Amino acid sequence: MRLFLAIELPQDVRDHLVRLQNAIRSIVRDLSFTRPDNLHITLKFLGEVADSAVKPLCDSLAAMPGSGPVQLQAAELTCFPERGPIRIVGAGLTAPPALTTLVTRIETACQSHGFPPEGRPYSAHITLARARNPLPPYLRNNMQAAAARLRPGPTMTAQQFVLMQSQLACDGPIYTPAAHFAL
Ligand code: 2AM
Repeated sequence: MRLFLAIELPQDVRDHLVRLQNAIRSIVRDLSFTRPDNLHITLKFLGEVADSAVKPLCDSLAAMPGSGPVQLQAAELTCFPERGPIRIVGAGLTAPPALTTLVTRIETACQSHGFPPEGRPYSAHITLARARNPLPPYLRNNMQAAAARLRPGPTMTAQQFVLMQSQLACDGPIYTPAAHFAL
């Protein structure tokens, strides 16, 4: 099954992110927006995982020392890649040390089960939209200015993270939590 680890979002944060999506939509229409129900913070993408490998991985994740609740707030709009044509528009997050600790521990646990390490440093964000055709770089400033008018967004405290199953469908992925881990 196709899996990833994520932090789920409370309704007030989703509502704020939908307002951000609407502000972006008023500038760029040719984007594929994440469905509100699907908005999440990815901690680690695992990809296809054999059924037999899921329980041992869950046991390791459950055995990690707790990082404690993680306080998060949407910060500036971020576009990926950082330079050049834009492929992904996301809400950047102010990432407290507890989030960095959590991601590092997850990486270590996943690597001990043979999952490859991330090739780039962790960038805490929530993907709001993906570009079907990469967007011209000048739109960064326009979208960031529109998003800045909606700041500050709500804060949230994550108490847990989830192992999420992702089933690909023609009208977007369907995400189903498969296990929860307390922070
Ligand atoms: P992102 O939105 O933060 O980039 C579930 O598919 C999540 O896993 C996506 O939201 C994406 O996080 C992340 N992901 C990372 N690498 C991926 C890949 N190769 N294919 C699909 N999703 C990936």
